[in-house]
Amino acid sequence: MDSALLPSLRRFSAVPLGGLLLGLLLLTGCGSEGDTTTLRLGHGMAPDHPVSKGMRYFAHTVDSLSDGKMNVEIYPSEQLGTERQCLELLQIGSLDMAKVSSAVLEGFSRDYRVFGLPYVFRNDEHRFNVLEGEIGREILLSGQDVWLRGLTYYDAGSRSFYTADTPIREPADLKGLKIRVQQSPVAIQMVQELGAQATPISFGELYTALQQGVVEGAENNPPSLHSTRHYELVDYYSLDQHTSPPDVLLISTHTWEDLTEQQRSWVQTAADASLQKQKAYWAQAEREAMKVVKEAGVEIVRPDKSKFVEAVQPLYEQYRKNQPRVYELFQRIRNLHSSDDS
Ligand code: GCU
Repeated sequence: MDSALLPSLRRFSAVPLGGLLLGLLLLTGCGSEGDTTTLRLGHGMAPDHPVSKGMRYFAHTVDSLSDGKMNVEIYPSEQLGTERQCLELLQIGSLDMAKVSSAVLEGFSRDYRVFGLPYVFRNDEHRFNVLEGEIGREILLSGQDVWLRGLTYYDAGSRSFYTADTPIREPADLKGLKIRVQQSPVAIQMVQELGAQATPISFGELYTALQQGVVEGAENNPPSLHSTRHYELVDYYSLDQHTSPPDVLLISTHTWEDLTEQQRSWVQTAADASLQKQKAYWAQAEREAMKVVKEAGVEIVRPDKSKFVEAVQPLYEQYRKNQPRVYELFQRIRNLHSSDDS
């Protein structure tokens, strides 16, 4: 295995941690008090975000399936650390669950990189056929050996550029712009391929970075542009929809191994049910977000996507040559049909 993908405790110790986080480090595995088992779940979204609502539905479902014998405590808004830090806590067994973007998992379990490649899905139906089918399941379980067992995906739509001063109508408009990207190798490569300067910054620090002009733009889906209020700081939202990395709900393999068969079944059943519910929350939030963003005066640009598709072709070639496993997954995804294909 690639040593960069191994859980690294050395790297973990270099991360600055808040007091709450340090407190948690002293705890191990899931907590049990009397008859009740409690799972702690950390993530970075604001409580009103549609992915947060999906997780609350998950927690309610675990509670009702188990008749109150299991409960899930949710810590939103990076209270327990960034997405990357939450994954590291899962790896050492100090946190039970996390929700992160698949983009951040790319550095931990290589298979997730396929979701970071631009224009990998043809449409939403194709995307969910992949995520809810055999390929999706295979990728969720690919992190099991690095202590990150995926339970389900959540809809995170498609990501597009938003910028302070420059409307992005074609890739050439990105030239030289400092664009915030997620901590994802593929996102960095892609944004560079498009001519911009990729600047990885954590989600929670981005508002200030945009405000202070550290970056001139970023990219995200409409509900996240809305719930972070980044739309207050930019003038253009250019819907090139370059990537669609899903969100992922994970459980530490340490915790999973401590659960009984019955408890595992409650957790997995609730996770599956929460995806179906979350898709509906998502669709509604996406419509509302676009409305709010437009009303706030952000200009919605609808660029010709084919120019972006053309500009990222060399990226596929790099993966074909250098990352055969990711490229194989990419081809399997491309070859999977959806009913509206002609
Ligand atoms: C999306 C995704 C988050 C992620 C964020 C980001 O909103 O759902 O999990 O943190 O993008 O850009 O970092």
